[in-house]
Amino acid sequence: MSEPFYITTAIAYPNGKPHIGHAYEAIATDAIARFQRLQGRDVRFVTGTDEHGLKMVQTARAAGRETLEFADEMSSYFRDMCDKLNISYTAFMRTSEERHHQASQALWTAMQERGDLYLDRYEGWYSVRDEAFYDESELVEGEGGVKLSPQGTPVEWTVEETWFFRLSRYQDALLELYAQNPEFIQPESRRNEVLRFVEGGLRDLSVSRTSFDWGVKVPGSPDHVMYVWVDALTTYMSGIGYPDTSGDFARFWPADVHIIGKDIVRFHAVYWPAFLMSAGLPLPKRVFGHGFLLSRGEKMSKSLGNVVDPMELADLFGVDALRYFFLREVSFGQDGSYSAEAIVTRVNADLANSFGNLAQRTLSLIFKNCDAYLPAIRGHADEDAALFQLVGSVVATEIPAHFENLAMSQALESWMKAVFACNAYIDAQAPWALKKTDPERMETVLATLFICIAQLAMAALPIIPEAATKLLDQMGVPESVRNFAQIGSHWYSPLAESDFRIEQPKGLFPRLELDLESGGNP
Ligand code: MSP
Repeated sequence: MSEPFYITTAIAYPNGKPHIGHAYEAIATDAIARFQRLQGRDVRFVTGTDEHGLKMVQTARAAGRETLEFADEMSSYFRDMCDKLNISYTAFMRTSEERHHQASQALWTAMQERGDLYLDRYEGWYSVRDEAFYDESELVEGEGGVKLSPQGTPVEWTVEETWFFRLSRYQDALLELYAQNPEFIQPESRRNEVLRFVEGGLRDLSVSRTSFDWGVKVPGSPDHVMYVWVDALTTYMSGIGYPDTSGDFARFWPADVHIIGKDIVRFHAVYWPAFLMSAGLPLPKRVFGHGFLLSRGEKMSKSLGNVVDPMELADLFGVDALRYFFLREVSFGQDGSYSAEAIVTRVNADLANSFGNLAQRTLSLIFKNCDAYLPAIRGHADEDAALFQLVGSVVATEIPAHFENLAMSQALESWMKAVFACNAYIDAQAPWALKKTDPERMETVLATLFICIAQLAMAALPIIPEAATKLLDQMGVPESVRNFAQIGSHWYSPLAESDFRIEQPKGLFPRLELDLESGGNP
């Protein structure tokens, strides 16, 4: 049986419609999931919506809606976004689902049995926007001297009887975890932040609320609902069947990686492993905190009016174009900026003019000059061998290594290096001029390009699944060999000896135009 691989995104608060930051996280996670499938792994990929907490209650109330009915509608926008962007999730979890409540209660009970939960009075600062408790010492001063959270959001003084989790008990165990597993928190800069926070001492965490009842009921304490983060994090387990610990949970837990944004690293790298240690469950192997997307270098916010609907961007530029842009342009782990001009420029340069043009030129020549049959390779010139060598090492070695390191932009940089080499080769060999002078050599050149293009299309499947699949279909490459294990193998020769004929090739990467009416800024 193939090796399991389990990956998750954060689950988004559906108190507003999905924005481009949510789309970015889903796309990046999807590319990793697709890559692992092409490596032959059996993949589970969980995403979903985080529907409890005070923020949802307040937003629904302000809209004059019932909370659940509001959550139903809002959650559907997130699922639609994932479907539109070709996100290959295996479960879309909603925290309002009954099976998720059961999972959260099972985790709670396990922590309680360990003696890590106690009732006390909570007095302190709470940010509804972040759904987070903060220490006085962490607060910053905003305009007019008002206190703000370190994320710049408003905080309110909260006094309530709540359950506490003995987080303080886990300080040493957490530091030991980070020391023993340096890859647990990535990238490095996030790891340092977490280390400093934990070394500074951990206080017990308030983990229930009594002032509202929208959430998972605390077992045996019907006036309390769980703190939203306790149940939100549990999604990573309920998404693969917990509290049933046989089946998928037994096979896929612990997660190979949680993909999250840099603002929520503390919850994933401190609270989550502490909860799991308390419950006696294995810990995820790594937590990767990606950067933030900025719109033209500015933070997106409703008040700045620069929140972009990813569905609109996908309609405007195409799903593959958007996926390619984000993964190529933003180095995974760092912040990145985007604008309509940047998308158009990057996608036209790399996909339309370089890769698309290469494929179109090659397949058109095969269609016209070789009677649509795949030519056989007859003899090898040094230039052919050099191209095979370069493309082969990019697709079979460099790209997989970058993907394993979650360095998608570097994988695409390598990919483009190979595309450039193919374009230099086609220009130098000028197969269009060989038809009259040396038809045999023309066939070898076109066959060499055909193989390289098919390999490049396979390697691009995780990033641009739709276009790469269409191209491989046009080229007659069987589905059974579309994976990294077969990428350098000799699947091409049976194809060249078969009756397979290519159809008149259709361009797959249209050149994008800026929509001038909207000032190029959707
Ligand atoms: N509900 C919590 C996560 C619970 S996970 C158990 C939450 N939701 S969120 O909707 O605010 O954010 C969802 C994800 O989107 C987070 O990983 C967050 O970091 C990410 N992003 C939110 N804005 C972003 C950008 N502008 N850019 C990139 N990612 C961003 O936090």
